[in-house]
Amino acid sequence: MTTSPHSPADLLIRPMQDADLPAVVALRNLGFHDLDRRTLPRHLDVPALPDDANSALWVDRTRFVLGTDPGGCWVAETPTGVVGFATSTVRELTWLLHTYVVHPEVQGHGIGRALLDAAASHGSGCLRAMLSASADPAAVRRYLLAGFELHPQMTLTGVVRRDAIPVITKVREGTPGDRELMDSLDRRRRDAAHGVDHEWLLAHHPLLVSDTTTGAGYAYLHPAGGVSLLAADNRRTAERLLWAALAAGAPGVSISQDHLTGANQWALRIATEAGLAVHTSGYLAVRGMRPPVPYVHHGTFG
Ligand SMILES: CC(C)(COP(=O)(O)OP(=O)(O)OC[C@H]1O[C@@H](n2cnc3c(N)ncnc32)[C@H](O)[C@@H]1OP(=O)(O)O)[C@@H](O)C(=O)NCCC(=O)NCCS
Repeated sequence: MTTSPHSPADLLIRPMQDADLPAVVALRNLGFHDLDRRTLPRHLDVPALPDDANSALWVDRTRFVLGTDPGGCWVAETPTGVVGFATSTVRELTWLLHTYVVHPEVQGHGIGRALLDAAASHGSGCLRAMLSASADPAAVRRYLLAGFELHPQMTLTGVVRRDAIPVITKVREGTPGDRELMDSLDRRRRDAAHGVDHEWLLAHHPLLVSDTTTGAGYAYLHPAGGVSLLAADNRRTAERLLWAALAAGAPGVSISQDHLTGANQWALRIATEAGLAVHTSGYLAVRGMRPPVPYVHHGTFG
């Protein structure tokens, strides 16, 4: 446990515990809602606060991360309670920052810096780091000062034109038996397997796999349409998987596909054919590596 020279004297930075999760999820909901109000373009409505199901899913994932990487998860506490937190993991030699929030009323006083330093100490032996960053200028400043390169992320929205969907072949449902294949693809695309993260992902997302003589790939489907995570050996396999994910969505329902980087132009070509709108939305921040391609990163597992 440490106090920080960069923040109020009564601030304690300490490891997160299971008992902190109710306070931490409330802070996550408040902090990101405030962020949306400050940073979303005017033509987009500010989403409502996350509902109970969304909060419960986030708590479940954070409890999982706390179990695998207790040394990567920290809270900032004052006499009034928990005012900030950062969660992170190490997979092979890559440090991944998951969620990072400071209460809006105490932002800008160095608490974020102290939290990021604590979480980053978990990845001190790593060669690479990766995170999906918000558009908050304060977060961006922290990441640039920590040596990250920023690559704008894009989000695709709208209703998929069903008549644009090609005939999809060579894609099957994935199973836990595909873990070795997925870890091997992860290493080729981003130099680090997701490893144990596949346990959580397999339990919460449908999985598609393409495994042919010319290359392999996998994609976890997002409940709101599109993919939560996609990795492939080549562009053709990635395209096949993204189309399969778009085809799996309910017809006529608007989707939101996050986390596309400029390195993945193949996905933007699909967006155009599918009639989806492209918006910029935060950054993929990387250190010691390039944005993976062909790849769609997960918002927290990277
Ligand atoms: C990102 C966040 C956790 C940082 O916490 P914090 O306590 O405000 O961080 P700090 O005070 O240590 O550092 C913020 C830095 O940004 C600077 N800053 C603040 N507002 C800024 C702005 N509008 N433009 C540029 N810089 C800004 C501060 O001056 C400070 O820099 P300095 O230390 O060189 O003076 C917090 O702002 C937050 O919760 N944001 C909303 C959620 C979010 O976006 N999280 C990151 C998700 S990836």
